[in-house]
Amino acid sequence: SRVPFPKPFTVPFVTPPIARPTQPGGTAYELTARTSDVEILPGRTTLVLGYDGSFPGPTIHARGGTATTVRLRNDLPVPTVMHLHGGVTPSTDDGYPTDLIQPRDTRLRRHLHPGVQARTTVGERTYTFPLRQRASTLWYHDHTMDFTGPNVYAGLAGMFVVHDDEDDALPLPTGARDVPLVICDRSFGPDGELTYPALSTSQKVHGVRDDYMGGVLGDVVLVNGRPWPVMEVDRARYRFRVLNASNARRFSLTLDHGARFVQVGTDQGLLPRPVERDSITLAPAERADVVVDLSQVPVGTKVTMRNGLGSGGTAQVMQLHVVRQGNDDSRIPTRLSTVEPLRDSDVVATRDLHFALGKPTNGHPHGLWSVNGVTFADGKDVARPRLGTVERWRLSSDVHHPVHPHLVRMQYADEPERGWKDTIDLEPGSAVEVLVQIEGYRGRYVMHCHNLEHEDMAMMVHFTVV
Ligand code: C2O
Ligand code: CU
Repeated sequence: SRVPFPKPFTVPFVTPPIARPTQPGGTAYELTARTSDVEILPGRTTLVLGYDGSFPGPTIHARGGTATTVRLRNDLPVPTVMHLHGGVTPSTDDGYPTDLIQPRDTRLRRHLHPGVQARTTVGERTYTFPLRQRASTLWYHDHTMDFTGPNVYAGLAGMFVVHDDEDDALPLPTGARDVPLVICDRSFGPDGELTYPALSTSQKVHGVRDDYMGGVLGDVVLVNGRPWPVMEVDRARYRFRVLNASNARRFSLTLDHGARFVQVGTDQGLLPRPVERDSITLAPAERADVVVDLSQVPVGTKVTMRNGLGSGGTAQVMQLHVVRQGNDDSRIPTRLSTVEPLRDSDVVATRDLHFALGKPTNGHPHGLWSVNGVTFADGKDVARPRLGTVERWRLSSDVHHPVHPHLVRMQYADEPERGWKDTIDLEPGSAVEVLVQIEGYRGRYVMHCHNLEHEDMAMMVHFTVV
């Protein structure tokens, strides 16, 4: 008998746990990646792979300019490696897909593309994040070569919020009214367990069945690990830090009862000024920092957040149930921050990066997802930009690909008011020009499609900052 899904907007909303540093006031964290039974569907448990056994993982709060460390212990039955998405991080600590933390049990160890670059450790390692960057809503997740899709799907993702004085000084909602929303879709089998269409459950062979070449989609929408939750809110303004943590699903979020989104930030922090929006579209890995003003909504109103790109269950996301009056001295200032536009005149190189299915070969009759025809295993750099310069990248695609280069920040050419981005949602058959600030550190990084099945099926390549 099938596990009944809960009715939308009946399961109570939760926020992910908050990670505590090892010393009060400190900046060192310890997380254990492990299997755990958690309640996702009411009255059932589901086996997940979670940071500290939690799905999503604990939210880490850090400060820009203050180095933060995460000691990650691997108690999983598979290798793992962690990446801070959007972090300006030295290559050694950036979660290179082959820098695996192997399980302690030798029988479970794997060596993936050993020719490429491998700094494997056994059982644990410590990542250092210098965080020389502005306030922003980042996230951390598994980045295991060829297996990021199944590992993130199973739960290995959490939020990482970078704070700074500029953001703190704004009169935006804070405390219990500054809320992370980790949104993703999942499917469940009749036994209540997550289903993932892997070619092999043993993680000996990577990839998914042919009908999932486009990416794995689920039929249940989870917010902070709960299906279609209902959140009881005050009659007040809320700041929601929204992350699309899905493997492949795009969302276009809307609100009813006249409530709207006021976007104040994007992947890489504050916009120059707030932008009112009827809908917020997020491809996998994109973030939007929004304020929703419920101060004019009568007590008792149920404001529903829907997904304009879904149907049936995937068209529903969550509900905000206004249950009480709230004191609120927050406001949305007309100016938020300064986003220095990158200038055309500073561009030192222009590159074309084409994200598309490659030609069929004997080994891969359907072709492999690739970038400029190159795949990770080819071991080539698709670019060797110089540290401290600005480049123009012309990104183009066959189908939808959310493109994410590690380390660097981007602005849409001609549209710097859209803010700093680390993930660009490429529409089918489109071309997008971005200006890229090559900053941070020299070293070897990856760029890839953040549709995680595309990424696992070869749409990831190397670039080296020189
Ligand atoms: Cu969100 Cu290469 O990752
Ligand atoms: Cu893709």
